Amino acid sequence: MKIHTTIESIRAARGDSGIVAFVPTMGNLHEGHIKLMREAGENADSVIASIFVNRLQFGPSEDFAKYPRTLETDCEKLEAAGVTHLFAPSEKVMYPEPQHFHVDPAPAQVSILEGECRPGHFRGVATVVLKLLNIVRPNSVLFGKKDYQQLIVLRNMVRELALPIEVLPGETVRAPDGLALSSRNGYLSPDERAEAPRLHKHLLIIRDAVRGGDHDFLKLETDALAALEAVGWKPDYFAVRRRADLQPPVQEDDPLVVLGAARLGRTRLIDNIEI
Ligand code: PAJ
Repeated sequence: MKIHTTIESIRAARGDSGIVAFVPTMGNLHEGHIKLMREAGENADSVIASIFVNRLQFGPSEDFAKYPRTLETDCEKLEAAGVTHLFAPSEKVMYPEPQHFHVDPAPAQVSILEGECRPGHFRGVATVVLKLLNIVRPNSVLFGKKDYQQLIVLRNMVRELALPIEVLPGETVRAPDGLALSSRNGYLSPDERAEAPRLHKHLLIIRDAVRGGDHDFLKLETDALAALEAVGWKPDYFAVRRRADLQPPVQEDDPLVVLGAARLGRTRLIDNIEI
């Protein structure tokens, strides 16, 4: 695997790479990222990954400074997963001047759920991803369903801006106890780690109730909030939504997803399951 730190270098490498699948990340890679890399390789001549901790998508009181940076072990994992090129730019390379132009996703998509809890987050995500896509110019790009709203926002960005790139979703990879893998799981104490699968458990309870014909979404959501609060979590939301646009369901046959976000100690966890 070749590591590129400049735009010129990754562009030159891309030119010789045939059909390219691209997997952008912020590093501290785990099996969730690596599965995306392997899937990327299935329908492409070359896989390009990126590692860049993007300041623009972190709020002022979020964990930008302490976000784990583990480039050396990340490179070993990427190499083993068959990635051909890694783009790992410095902040100076990505943002040589303050970023004055931004991508503003549709308010309806970012005023809800994660967008409501993290103002400006998706603007930062969409801006860096458009920039990365312009740099790498891949044929396809992969995003995990773990960050469901991110996937929807970016899929819509690619479609509305007519980028000639296929967006491919990857299933969420979980630990055996159900906890979705995440770089932020590393912040959990051993006790918190043992408690953390409860978020997923309540998503399953809601999924099974809805599948069983219970359509009182508000009650299901409120019960899950209360159950987490009762054992010391600070939940932000549980929400049953349409998969297509994450708005509240309208039609009986809308394909649905249930999403949840909650703080456990100082760590904020998010998860979701398609119903
Ligand atoms: P990061 O959190 O590093 O995630 C990179 C990609 O891996 C995203 O598409 C994310 O959804 C996916 N991913 C993370 N955990 C996963 C899991 N347990 N199972 C499956 N996929 C998983 O998401 C970002 O970085 C950034 O916002 C980025 C898109 C790179 C823009 O900065």
